[in-house]
Amino acid sequence: MSYISVDDRSNEQFMELFKQTAEIKTQLSVNKGALRHVCPDVMMGMMFYEPSTRTSGSFNKAITFLGGMPAPFDISTSSIAKGETLEDTARMIAMACDILVVRHSGEGTCRTLETILRQSNPNISIINAGEGKGEHPTQALLDMYTIWENFGRTDVTIGLYGDLAHGRTAHSLIKLASRMGATIVCAAPRAELEMPQEYIRYARDKGAKVIVTDNIESVAGDLDVIYTTRLQRERGASQDKIEAFEAGSGYGVTPALMKLFNPKGIVMHPLPRVDELSVEVDADPRAKYFQQAENGIYTRMALIVSEMNRPIFAKA
Ligand code: ASP
Ligand code: CP
Repeated sequence: MSYISVDDRSNEQFMELFKQTAEIKTQLSVNKGALRHVCPDVMMGMMFYEPSTRTSGSFNKAITFLGGMPAPFDISTSSIAKGETLEDTARMIAMACDILVVRHSGEGTCRTLETILRQSNPNISIINAGEGKGEHPTQALLDMYTIWENFGRTDVTIGLYGDLAHGRTAHSLIKLASRMGATIVCAAPRAELEMPQEYIRYARDKGAKVIVTDNIESVAGDLDVIYTTRLQRERGASQDKIEAFEAGSGYGVTPALMKLFNPKGIVMHPLPRVDELSVEVDADPRAKYFQQAENGIYTRMALIVSEMNRPIFAKA
């Protein structure tokens, strides 16, 4: 079963993944080699057409911790330079693989590749590692896990703050969090960067309360989570929008905003950060973005074992 959108799994399946992740973390904290027997025969292809540090690195670590085999692919030295198509490249990378992890700028790429690759390999599982400005569903998995880990529940109030128009992590998170009982505050600093209506509609259809504001300061005290994102310059944020964003006096998570923020809240960021999240915030105990990034390893391990139908621990 592929994982291309958060819609591909039920809330119950997410809860199961969270519990498996918690168990995996516990096991690895005692012995890093404890789970090497789980997927020794599994080959995972990695096809990243866009830059990545965390997602590619954590998938690599995840399959290695499970004893499986990562099959990386370097776009800069590949035969794409000779004009090979995306489809033919995917056929080669996916050859002999059980799982193919795909990052690409084109929305719909993962579904297209799934159709093509299943003609020769009916069991292959495609995992979306970030697709244009559409979704980044494994990020939403680790984001919701981090929220659950910190609060013990998912019906929290989340302030999405940044470029909500073009940020795929915010798109997947609003979908998943609204389904899991969260209240959503969309706090783009400029109207041009606001969350697209289709996602707000989705969240409201799932019964979530959604508030739209351009003033994070006025709501900061009531938020459990500030989830900030960088301006997605590479995704069509126009020069006007960039200037508007940069002119946004005081924009960003700064020590000043932290003073207004709920003392029991947490700050999250999918990373990489640029200048919207001050390094001075790193020492604040509410800063959880590095823990969040590390959770990417363990949640992706849980996802791989569920894709391969090899649950490590008995269901609760
Ligand atoms: N790393 C995340 C993504 O690939 C967030 C970002 O790049 O801003 O979507
Ligand atoms: N969060 C995230 O997707 O990071 P990378 O772009 O570095 O993979």
